[in-house]
Amino acid sequence: MAKLLSLLSLSLLFLFSLSSANPNPNSLLSAHKELETFGFPIGLLPTNVAHYSINRTSGEFSVKLSDKCKLTLPPDNYLATYSKIVRGKIVKNKIAELDGIKVRAMFQWWSITGIRSSGDNLVFEVGMLSAKYPAKNFDASPPCEGLKADS
Ligand SMILES: *[C@@H]1O[C@H](CO)[C@@H](O)[C@H](O)[C@H]1NC(C)=O
Repeated sequence: MAKLLSLLSLSLLFLFSLSSANPNPNSLLSAHKELETFGFPIGLLPTNVAHYSINRTSGEFSVKLSDKCKLTLPPDNYLATYSKIVRGKIVKNKIAELDGIKVRAMFQWWSITGIRSSGDNLVFEVGMLSAKYPAKNFDASPPCEGLKADS
């Protein structure tokens, strides 16, 4: 019995060390958490973040998704696409030089070039134009359409 128990705890230990030896320390949770530390809701990034990096001096970041992503943005159900790599420059409450997110509106695809966090709202910038939405629409990280729920 004691042997069985120690075997059991050994294999549990093994399992724990496997899960903590994640080869990808900058994965899902940390990229979304990072958004929050800069004043943005996690719903700006889909669930399939594979890797991300940030230069803390310049704010330049790069988010790599496991695949490009298509989803529907609340509240107006605009179709949006995320490239496999999304880049930009982030400081508190402001993302600039954004590259990799497009939205379909008025029969055209528009690149979102910047996002600002302003009180309870998010302001999406498309070149000189901007659109304001309540940030609460982005409280949850959306899954990509066509992506299996378990992947
Ligand atoms: C981070 O950004 C700073 C300021 O732009 C730059 O000097 C530095 O080389 C960058 N570091 C890396 C690792 O790219």
